[in-house]
This record gives sequence, structure tokens and C-alpha cells, in this order.
Amino acid sequence: MKVTNSNERIHVLDSSSTVMTIIEDIVKSGLQEEAFYVLDVGDIVKKHQIWKEKLPRVEPFYAVKCNDSPTVIEVLAALGTGFDCASKAEINKVLNAGVDPSRIIFANPAKPASHVRHAAAVGVDVTTVDNESELHKIKKIHPRAKIVIRIRCDAEISQCPLGMKFGCDPVCEAPNLLRLARMLNLDVIGISFHVGSGCQDPPVFYRAICHAKNLFDMAKDLDFKPYLLDLGGGYPGDRGTSIDKIADVINTALDEFFNTDDVHIIAEPGRFYVASAFTLATSIHSKRSVRHDKLSPNSITHNMYYINDGVYGSFNCILYDHQRVIPTPLKAGCGKLIPSSIWGPTCDGLDQVVENVLMQDMDLGDWIIFENMGAYTLPVASPFNGFPVPKVHVVAEEKVWRLLKDILPMTEDHFVIGNTPANLRLGLDIDPTKIDEWDNPSIDLSSSGIINEPPPSSPFIYEYVEVEPIN
Ligand SMILES: Cc1ncc(COP(=O)(O)O)c(C=O)c1O
Repeated sequence: MKVTNSNERIHVLDSSSTVMTIIEDIVKSGLQEEAFYVLDVGDIVKKHQIWKEKLPRVEPFYAVKCNDSPTVIEVLAALGTGFDCASKAEINKVLNAGVDPSRIIFANPAKPASHVRHAAAVGVDVTTVDNESELHKIKKIHPRAKIVIRIRCDAEISQCPLGMKFGCDPVCEAPNLLRLARMLNLDVIGISFHVGSGCQDPPVFYRAICHAKNLFDMAKDLDFKPYLLDLGGGYPGDRGTSIDKIADVINTALDEFFNTDDVHIIAEPGRFYVASAFTLATSIHSKRSVRHDKLSPNSITHNMYYINDGVYGSFNCILYDHQRVIPTPLKAGCGKLIPSSIWGPTCDGLDQVVENVLMQDMDLGDWIIFENMGAYTLPVASPFNGFPVPKVHVVAEEKVWRLLKDILPMTEDHFVIGNTPANLRLGLDIDPTKIDEWDNPSIDLSSSGIINEPPPSSPFIYEYVEVEPIN
């Protein structure tokens, strides 16, 4: 299989490299001015291992909306997950990775008719429904669809609640939908829910699974043969978080309510798989030092840093996903900590990334790193004001390359061996003469001449001119 997106070839790291050393190498090369991501494929593989260990009965169907990077989809397809798609375009992305339509759930309870028609045409039959008019729509357009009734059961605390928009009441509304589906001669195969994204209320899964069990019984009474229970999303994915508590609740509830092999249990994790796999590197292109101390007019009271990604780009997650992002200077600094704020590059005053943080003094051209930037960032980002959406530089350890290279849709062609500076330059912003090499895997990537080349001085760092303060 040919690699479709050459910008996302996976760089196989040598044993001494890490995501941070890769970022340092790219920065030191002086060839990268724009913000960029490093995607660590091994982090996704690790997450999959954790999922299989903690939730052995639950088959993950990755929620594509969370991050639709081709590499993410292909890696997860190779690992054998299913996919939750919300639209025709997401379905096509997953099908293009060679995934069988039976491994897709069209998990959007309110679907445009043309998207339902498309699902029917390509053989995506399993879909969620939470209202009567959707049942009538499906009866007309996709009568052989396998219907999953989505119920509402909200976490008491979640980063992004979803219940106000989707999910029918499990007690008052769901039974009526089952009866209508029976009258329309539609095939109801199960129950789904989504407790809210970024769930901080593990016991909610017990309540939801209990409701699902009651509805399974009701569906059987109506002569349906339900066999699918879909636990939706909501699992944390940042470095240092754990799904242990949620998994304990789910496993207990499954043992109590679905202690049978006849029910296929799936879930739709999004942020769990990708949040920690993406690290964003941004650079400071402008700075304002504010001096508000009347007693000491020379001393800086606040630094405002302007970086090359903002809330219209990757940091849309602050507005839409209610994320708190943590800045880490790439270079260890020295000197006293100064109250600082970090701003995006656009001309909008709303474009603020961090409101107030203590940081050592930084300069133009210095880099600030943000970890845990894989969930609900890139698919929403726009190039507003002409500032580009960051490119993704994909890396994997050698053992990950060995694991994935022969599992379709991954192939040897997806990988580039060796993270020499020459290799790292492929796909970077500056030096367009090198860009063609990106598409030419036959070039000699081991060329050591480039390794020893001193890093060119960065073209966008300016000298300060010392001036007396104006009183
Ligand atoms: C239907 C559906 N499934 C799954 C997800 C993924 O949720 P999470 O990223 O919290 O796992 C979402 C997120 O909005 C969703 O709407």
C-alpha cells in the first residue's frame, strides 16, 4: 500500500532520542520557525495496551472526531480497533485506511440525510438514534440499518457535557423509541450512551449500564434481539491520568448486569488514545514587557509573550474543549520568576493561551512546549489571520516500528529510518530545496555530513538595543 500523506511518514528514532530531544534537534536546526507537533506513535500503542489490560471485555471504537490525523487512523486500524464516525467525511477517511465498514459505528444521533444515504451505500449499517424523526429518516433511507438507541446519563462533573444535546431519557423516552422502531419494523441491536467528555464521575458508568440493562430487557420483550452495548467516550488521556477508576466501575457493572458472552461491548474513546501522544512546540515571535511599578519604574511587572499558535489554531481546545494548557520553556531558564501571559498570533484580543503564569524571562525565538495536545486540537484548528495550522512530525521507537510495519494498513513505506538532522529536516518549514527529498525515500538519509554541520543562527532573533527608560 502506498503512503498517502508523505508529510506524515513516521521517523524511527534511535535509542537515545525522545520526543524532547527531537524537538530540541528540530529547533536547533534553525530550519523551523512555525509551531509544530511531534506525534509519538508509541504513546498510542501504549494506550491500546492499557485499554486491553484494564477493559478486556470492551472493544474500543476510536472517536475519529477527536483527532483525524491519517497516522492516528492507520495506527489504530493496524492495532485492530473499530471507529466511531460522525459524518460522511469521517467514514470515508476510515474506509480509505482499508478498514472494513463493519468496524465502523456511525455514532451521530442527528445525521444529515445525505450522510445516511452514503453510510447505506458503503455498508456502514450500525448507527445511533435518540429521537423519533431520526427513526423515520432511517426507515426511508437506510431501512436495513442496525439501530443503537442512545440514552442520556450525564456525569456530575465532566469537561464537556453532551447530555443537553444528545441522548433520550432512558425511562420516559427510550421505551417509546423501542416501540416505534418495532412498528416501523426496524432492527434495534443495542443501547449506547456518552456520559460526557473528560468524565470525572466514574460511578456514572454504573448508572448508565444499569439503565442499558433495563432497556435490553424491554427490547427483548418487544422481540428485538439486542446484542450491542456501547459505553461511549469520556476516558481521560493526559499524561499522568489513569482510567483505573472508570475501568473498575465498568468491569463491576458489566459483571453484574451483562454477565454473558452474548453481548458485544464496545466504547468510543477519543481523548484517551491521542491526548498525550501529541506535543506542541511554539516559538515566541514578539514580547511586551509591562512596567507598572511606580516605585521601581525599570523593573518588569509582567511579560506578555506572543507565540505562533493560538486559540484559532491548536489552542481552540481552550475555548471549545475547556482545556487548561501548561507551558514549559524548552530551555531551562534562570533568574527570577515574572508574572507572564501567553498570547496567540492573531489580532483578536480573545486570542490568549495562558492568562497568568510565573515564568523566567524569555526572549524572541525561544520555544515553549505544550504537552497533551492531541485531543480536540488539530481537527478544529484554522489558519485565521493567515497563521498556518502546525505541521505534525511523526516519530516512533524502533520496537514500535517492528510491531507495526507489517500490519496493514501500515507498511514499511510508512517509516523513515534514522532521526539524523537530515531526516528531521524533511518536512520542516525553511529550506524549500530540501522539501522534494521528503517525497523521495531513496535519498541517502544516513549522510553524516549534515550531522556535524553547526546549526545556522536563527533568522528571526533580533538584537535588543539598550535604551534609557522614558519617565
Ligand atoms: C458520540 C461520541 N462518541 C465519542 C466521543 C469521544 O469522547 P471522548 O473524547 O471523551 O472519549 C464523543 C465526543 O464528543 C462523541 O460525541
